[in-house]
Amino acid sequence: MAEDLFLAARDAMARAHAPYSKFPVGAAIRATDGKIYAGANIEVISYPEGWCAETTAIGHMVMAGAGKIAEVAVIAEKMAKCTPCGGCRQRLAEFGTPATKVYLCDNTGVVETVTLADLLPMAFETEVLK
Ligand code: THU
Repeated sequence: MAEDLFLAARDAMARAHAPYSKFPVGAAIRATDGKIYAGANIEVISYPEGWCAETTAIGHMVMAGAGKIAEVAVIAEKMAKCTPCGGCRQRLAEFGTPATKVYLCDNTGVVETVTLADLLPMAFETEVLK
């Protein structure tokens, strides 16, 4: 993974709004257009209304008109190898492929590289709804 993706995830983490969990997370997506879209988790006093770093990054990517995810980096200040939650796995799968790489980071760089297929085996994907 190129350093720029890691740095974007780490910079995004610094913008987290996580006053309740105090668990800042950053995510950075490199889209197939080559550009990077980053995001942090954003929490709300009504707890279920908050959302994850990956979701913020996906929103930026979609609104920029970028099509698909090429690779993703995720970092959490207080946990090495923070894996995307279940909902974010499904959201990432919407815009990636089973082979899309997800880099699980710590504060210095990549700790482990996995794929979306590793994270979301037997994903719900069907032609019927298309
Ligand atoms: N969180 C993320 O932003 N991404 C993940 O991959 C795991 C969890 C956030 C949600 C919440 O703001 C905080 O981490 C604690 O669960």
